[in-house]
Amino acid sequence: MSTIISVRDLKKKFGEKWVTQGVNLDIPEGMMTVIIGRSGEGKSVLLKQMIGLIHPTSGEILFKGLDITKLSDQELEEQFKHIGYVFQFAALLDSLNTFENVGITLLENGAKPQDVLPIVKEKLGLVNLHEETLYKYPSELSGGMRKRVGLARTLVTNPEIILYDEPTTGLDPITARVIHELMYDMQKRLKLTSVVISHDIEIFKYADKVALLNDGKIAYFGDAKTIWESDNPYIYQFIRGLPEGPIQTEVAHFKDKF
Ligand SMILES: Nc1ncnc2c1ncn2[C@@H]1O[C@H](COP(=O)(O)OP(=O)(O)OP(=O)(O)O)[C@@H](O)[C@H]1O
Ligand SMILES: [Mg+2]
Repeated sequence: MSTIISVRDLKKKFGEKWVTQGVNLDIPEGMMTVIIGRSGEGKSVLLKQMIGLIHPTSGEILFKGLDITKLSDQELEEQFKHIGYVFQFAALLDSLNTFENVGITLLENGAKPQDVLPIVKEKLGLVNLHEETLYKYPSELSGGMRKRVGLARTLVTNPEIILYDEPTTGLDPITARVIHELMYDMQKRLKLTSVVISHDIEIFKYADKVALLNDGKIAYFGDAKTIWESDNPYIYQFIRGLPEGPIQTEVAHFKDKF
């Protein structure tokens, strides 16, 4: 198992407030890693630092061994051609239809619409959207469809890594499952590395690794498949939604009960 992104002692403060407080995390290549943690913990900030959208205060981010915190914006762009980022809120442009939203990077770079069309159709096919959505605007699509359009847009650059920020938030459980299966399927089929921020515990069925962010640090990193058996106190409480408190006694108490 090789590491594709290695985060070393990463720290970030906004004003006087420390958000990332010494994160160490190795993202394994070709797997799905889920990052969990409470709202406001700094998950989105961590993900954005991993692709250079936010500059860290200190620390290193090694992408295939290269420290990206030292690169210029232009060098970053070059490095990250093959990284896709799916934003927390689908972030489609309301004034553009599906074809334009998905093909935007290519169209902005001057590609002809007739050349972009087959590529957009292919990517829509990968996310199970039919051609009738091509000329619809975001307001005419359901939440699940908008997420899939966002995903198709990411696929246009043929990424080898996709970072997802809460891909299923706001979706009903059935649509959320469809999206999870799609992410899983794409990861296997296109041999991607996926990094997913999620509050949705269903994701553990599809993921390989789980990292828990707590107090600005990684409090746990382990296998997703066995997460429910973990007696790591942070994980135990977090995935069961238990309130904070005297962790060890809480765990012991629950173990006795069930
Ligand atoms: N550009 C910024 N400037 C100042 N503070 C910021 C900025 N971006 C994020 N923060 C702060 O950093 C903290 C972490 O935010 P972040 O969005 O990473 O949380 P999160 O874990 O993704 O939460 P959620 O689960 O609600 O999405 C918050 O207190 C937020 O206000
Ligand atoms: Mg967030």
